[in-house]
Amino acid sequence: MHSFDVTIIGAGAAGLFCAGVAGQLGLKVLVLDHADKVAEKIRISGGGRCNFTNRDTGAANFLSDNPRFCRSALSRYSPRDFTGLLDRHRIAYHEKHKGQLFCDHSADDIIQMLLAECAASGNVSRWQPCAVRSIRFSPSSPRIHWPSSYEIDSNQGTVVCGAIVVATGGLSIPKIGATDFGYRVARQFGLPVVTPRPALVPLTFDEAAWAPFAQLAGLSLPVKIETGSKKDKIAFLEDLLFTHRGLSGPGVLQISSYWQPGTPIRLNLAPDTDVAAFLTEAKTRSRKRIANELATLVPARLADTWVAQGARLGHQWERPVNEASDKSLIALAEHLSRWEVNPTGTEGYRKAEVTAGGVDTRALSSQTLEATQQSGLYFIGEVVDVTGWLGGYNFQWAWASAFACAQGLAAKLQGSSPP
Ligand code: FDA
Repeated sequence: MHSFDVTIIGAGAAGLFCAGVAGQLGLKVLVLDHADKVAEKIRISGGGRCNFTNRDTGAANFLSDNPRFCRSALSRYSPRDFTGLLDRHRIAYHEKHKGQLFCDHSADDIIQMLLAECAASGNVSRWQPCAVRSIRFSPSSPRIHWPSSYEIDSNQGTVVCGAIVVATGGLSIPKIGATDFGYRVARQFGLPVVTPRPALVPLTFDEAAWAPFAQLAGLSLPVKIETGSKKDKIAFLEDLLFTHRGLSGPGVLQISSYWQPGTPIRLNLAPDTDVAAFLTEAKTRSRKRIANELATLVPARLADTWVAQGARLGHQWERPVNEASDKSLIALAEHLSRWEVNPTGTEGYRKAEVTAGGVDTRALSSQTLEATQQSGLYFIGEVVDVTGWLGGYNFQWAWASAFACAQGLAAKLQGSSPP
């Protein structure tokens, strides 16, 4: 039987960071993970360079059934706190786009930093690969100075500890170790789970309806993309990428987190231009085909497809611009700047960057991430129903929730240690 103050299940972003901070606060920590390789999701993140935070992180950049929950943790561990840690480890980074910070060299810098923080504490053990078979709760144990205790049965032996931190992430990318373990533990102890769903994920369309656009696969352009109506309307100005099966790119990934199946998304394919004014002005000076004029606003392949598609629907858009009626040019402009499409689904967890939904935050303390009705059980990172936008927000939530949890664990140990 091994005893620790705390066992953290999941050696990913949140789990490793929590282990390092808790270890440095004097807790004896075990972190275990069933995957062969440590923190594989960090390694593949940000195209191998890890977009580890966003300078402008706020609660508005997150989705949750309980939107105010994330404020407390985010305010106590900021992007600046994390870049301070990187500076101490002499890890070089740069800002790429809209506050997104990436490593100059490699995502591995972040993994090595997290492991070094754990090692520096002298208090953190890591068992990996290690599979958890079961978790049992008992009000207390003579082996540890905690108000409650847990017994974990694993394939490397039995562990008794005062607290468990579940940091097993979401369901995306199952081939590198994602499981529903965290949700099962939540249910075992009576915590509700907001139904998980793939988020930051490409959208797919009915094959026949998409056929005219499938040939545009690989083409990318800046767009305004929106979904929802009135009060719950949300829009992003980001790039769109056509794929064989539908739409991807940063704009689509962002909107996918908000998209409700059965509802449309709307796209403005030339967000910086008044297309109607442009075309009616072109009519006064040009004899070029409409597609050629459009090609000054959007990629030529898109302009050609657009005009051909319009012709199939009965519009006379294949003629020279000076021969087109004002009405048909205005219809074309309207079509291009308010393109409404109806996705039939998403590419699912195989391609999703994150999982929306998760352990219901109404059952957790926003100060410490501890279950309010289950002493000593904590949930941090992506397993919790807090989902960030694309752009470094999900890692910032991992760091901030892990930090709040580690502080909570230390306070609890102090409160329950014998004088
Ligand atoms: P994380 O998934 O990191 O770790 C969970 C750990 O738990 C894993 O090591 C897993 O093996 C382990 N585990 C699971 N089940 C277990 C079980 N039953 N027993 C034991 N261990 C178990 N975010 C961002 O902010 N910037 C970015 O650049 C990117 N880029 C990106 C690219 C790609 C391709 C993906 C898939 C995701 C991103 N993300 C991202 C999202 C980001 O990677 C994610 O939100 C964080 O890694 C979440 O951190 P966690 O520690 O919560 O889970």
